[in-house]
Amino acid sequence: MTKNKNQTLLSSNMTCTLTIYSCLLGLLLLVMVTPSEATVHSVFTYKNASTQLGQVVTSSTLVWETYDGPWQMQFAVEGGKYVTADEHYPIFVCRVNIDGMHTSGHTEKIQQKHVCKAEGKNNENFDVLMNKGHLGKIGWRQWTKFTAGVPVGAIRIGEDSYIGRHKDAAGEHHGADYNLGSLELTGLGKIRVMEQQEERNYDEGEVLIETEPVRYELRDIKLDRLRTLIRDNLTELATGQLENLGDTYNTMEKVMSYSFDQLQYWGSHEGVARGLPTKIYEKDASTPSEINWALKRGEKRPETKVVSAKLWPGTAINVTLLGNYVTLEAPYSAKLFAYYHGSESVSRKISAELRKSYLKDVKLEFSPVFWIENGTIVPTTTTTSTTSTSTTTHATTTSTNEPVPINEPPLVEIKHVGDKHSGPDTLEKTLQKSNEVNAHEAPENMSSKDAALAGFGLSPNNAAASLSVGGTIGTLLLTLLLL
Ligand SMILES: *[C@@H]1O[C@H](CO)[C@@H](O)[C@H](O)[C@H]1NC(C)=O
Ligand SMILES: *[C@@H]1O[C@H](CO)[C@@H](O)[C@H](O)[C@H]1NC(C)=O
Ligand SMILES: *[C@@H]1O[C@H](CO)[C@@H](O)[C@H](O)[C@H]1NC(C)=O
Ligand SMILES: *[C@@H]1O[C@H](CO)[C@@H](O)[C@H](O)[C@H]1NC(C)=O
Ligand SMILES: *[C@@H]1O[C@H](CO)[C@@H](O)[C@H](O)[C@H]1NC(C)=O
Repeated sequence: MTKNKNQTLLSSNMTCTLTIYSCLLGLLLLVMVTPSEATVHSVFTYKNASTQLGQVVTSSTLVWETYDGPWQMQFAVEGGKYVTADEHYPIFVCRVNIDGMHTSGHTEKIQQKHVCKAEGKNNENFDVLMNKGHLGKIGWRQWTKFTAGVPVGAIRIGEDSYIGRHKDAAGEHHGADYNLGSLELTGLGKIRVMEQQEERNYDEGEVLIETEPVRYELRDIKLDRLRTLIRDNLTELATGQLENLGDTYNTMEKVMSYSFDQLQYWGSHEGVARGLPTKIYEKDASTPSEINWALKRGEKRPETKVVSAKLWPGTAINVTLLGNYVTLEAPYSAKLFAYYHGSESVSRKISAELRKSYLKDVKLEFSPVFWIENGTIVPTTTTTSTTSTSTTTHATTTSTNEPVPINEPPLVEIKHVGDKHSGPDTLEKTLQKSNEVNAHEAPENMSSKDAALAGFGLSPNNAAASLSVGGTIGTLLLTLLLL
């Protein structure tokens, strides 16, 4: 029996063609694009977990990044505007470490560099709050001491303090329109900021809130064709025997079940929350599949087929179901949409790595007809290819008046029952659409018939009629695909 034949069915232009040179080139480009890797630290936000109100959890979309230069600021979280007669620019949320304690402030520009204004000083060493994925919604929410406590989503800056701000008292066009400081939880709470080098405490102000999305959708998926790697593994799914123990020429049936692991992993991405429910919209797929972002998802998929053949009394055939277990690995780009409670969605382009395993091309393999009693192959008339084509249609209509003269191979049929999970992957199909060479072309029209002839002129030492039997019409009939 054939078992787990590893086959490379795909043409070379679909396999990884990355040479050492292009890898080096890629690295070089990477180095040129990112001047240097800034140090990042986790951001903690105040969450209302179902178990416990007031848990502080690591934000999946925000990070503190050590300031390195103005080029970083495209992802920085805005705290307000700096407006004077001559200047107009956004100010960003920053923090400094003073005696081991973090204090929040805002950035201002001195020439072309930023400084972090906190505790009334201009600091050159500081961290900037970054919304890297641009998928977390960040906003300032009104707070008063009667709000009672910390709003959900507030960003922690220190022990019992969260990022807050208060409108500058000086009015417009005098520099920063807001002073950034903190919400302190002493007593009923207060907004504490520095104003003209002096500490001020207010009963009201604004608190920075991060709203995380509740779910994602992945659309417009494009695989990097040149770096797509597809491996397939021809696997035996089930075996069985159809035998006629009765005394009339009759149709014998066998139910064959198997299961396989269907896996998908769409990679992870900076600023995209792990574990969030994500719908994947593949081109041509009728319904989206659902995963949890950045978690590997595997499902056991059962399938059942019914195999039938018309057999003479005392004869039998062996049947085997085979399938191609495919692993597809590819870098991809796509649009990720983030959805929030009660506000519109946000989308952005992302690139990540995909890994999928699935089963396709389930097919039937069977032996010649043999006598149950002694296992000897039943001699069927070895016909020439021209006459055998005509017996194809004839086989089903043979009438039974004489017990034996077996001169025609039976028609073996296979039917699918229940849910069907195997089949070519939609992504693989999109790849092939634009591919000139289709390496494993199956005769399209054969697939719909789900039928084949058994026992075609095979010698006993070639008992298993398999795909590897080459050259005859029988082979063509045997490579039936169940789509
Ligand atoms: C926290 O969540 C619980 C339910 O999980 C809800 O009843 C409560 O109102 C929430 N509190 C806040 C402040 O959102
Ligand atoms: C092929 O599949 C079998 C079982 O289905 C597995 O044991 C084997 O490791 C696979 N081979 C490859 C090359 O993936
Ligand atoms: C049928 O299968 C049995 C065991 O499953 C094996 O012993 C026998 O040789 C097979 N016969 C043919 C003709 O393949
Ligand atoms: C096997 O059994 C069948 C049916 O009983 C018989 O016709 C055939 O001659 C037998 N073959 C051998 C080699 O014994
Ligand atoms: C398949 O069969 C249909 C009619 O049943 C025919 O129109 C079509 O051309 C056939 N396709 C191929 C590839 O033979």
